[in-house]
Amino acid sequence: MQRPKISIIGAGNVGATTAHIASLKELGNIVLIDIVKGVAQGKGLDMSASMPIEQRDARIKGTDDYEDIKDSDIVVVTAGLPRKPGMSRDDLLKKNSDIVASVSENIKKYAPDSIVIIVSNPLDAMVYVASKVTGFPKERIIGMAGVLDSTRFAYFIAEETNVSVEDVNTMVLGGHGDMMIPLVRYSNIAGIPLSHFLSEDKIEAMVERTRKGGAEIVNLLKTGSAYYAPASAIVDMIEAILKDKKKILPCSVYLEGEYGAEGIFIGVPIKLGRNGVEEIIELELDNDEKKAFEKNVEQVRELIEKVNI
Ligand code: NAI
Ligand code: 2OP
Repeated sequence: MQRPKISIIGAGNVGATTAHIASLKELGNIVLIDIVKGVAQGKGLDMSASMPIEQRDARIKGTDDYEDIKDSDIVVVTAGLPRKPGMSRDDLLKKNSDIVASVSENIKKYAPDSIVIIVSNPLDAMVYVASKVTGFPKERIIGMAGVLDSTRFAYFIAEETNVSVEDVNTMVLGGHGDMMIPLVRYSNIAGIPLSHFLSEDKIEAMVERTRKGGAEIVNLLKTGSAYYAPASAIVDMIEAILKDKKKILPCSVYLEGEYGAEGIFIGVPIKLGRNGVEEIIELELDNDEKKAFEKNVEQVRELIEKVNI
């Protein structure tokens, strides 16, 4: 079969929802893997059975055998624990770095030419783990977070101003943590600055809500974290790659001097296409934005130092 192959490791809330949306968009055939036997198989079969009604040709195969990810174009890693109320993303560090390291060994072995999208938290540190273990070139190891944070910011703006979500453009820079940087100067409504529609206080409130967007949902759900918007964000990235769209999206990628940061994965705008990271877009930052970014870099570095692989 000549369809693109998308493998998703972790068939929990984010992984399964990603498989569902990607199949509804007919982006390719999907392999879903989970460590718990039967989970991926059951969800894969259930989703596949919906395809005749949806009139979409996409196979969703559930498995626990890594050989099935052979020849994948894209591998998405959502394996790991989600946050519970009161838990920070950083609390997940130890558990999830072990999981991501073992998953990455399998990706290296069975899908050495794939483009890898890491989703497991704490995100920027997990991308680092995957990069270390696979040794893949920096173009093919990408973390998903900025697309999610930007869509949350966009939604809050659209809701507050009562405009179409289609008109809102946002950009969130930095690590996927409470200090992320929603860039007000680089966000707009149909090209018009946010300040035309919103007071400074309102904008600041939305910036804060975006920073805590993940925690707001954790506190409501109580048993896990967000997955609908995260899955949409992952599919946006998969589509940009498979269709070679050259979309400008904020993703966690390896910096070698860009934005003054060296040897670290962190969220910045990139051009995403069939080769993965095709360009890192360096925005001009003002002093406050620069300082905030430097703090983000420090925070991510501290996290990485705690990773033991
Ligand atoms: P979940 O608990 O619903 O699913 C995780 C799945 O991973 C479970 O089915 C579990 O059995 C599986 N798993 C655990 N170890 C595994 C291994 N070694 N191999 C294969 N599968 C394994 O969690 P959910 O909500 O799907 O979240 C997954 C991860 O994604 C969490 O770490 C969460 O914090 C993160 N996340 C990151 C986001 C981002 O913006 N980067 C957004 C949303 C979630
Ligand atoms: C989020 O922002 C859990 O990181 C995840 O929803």
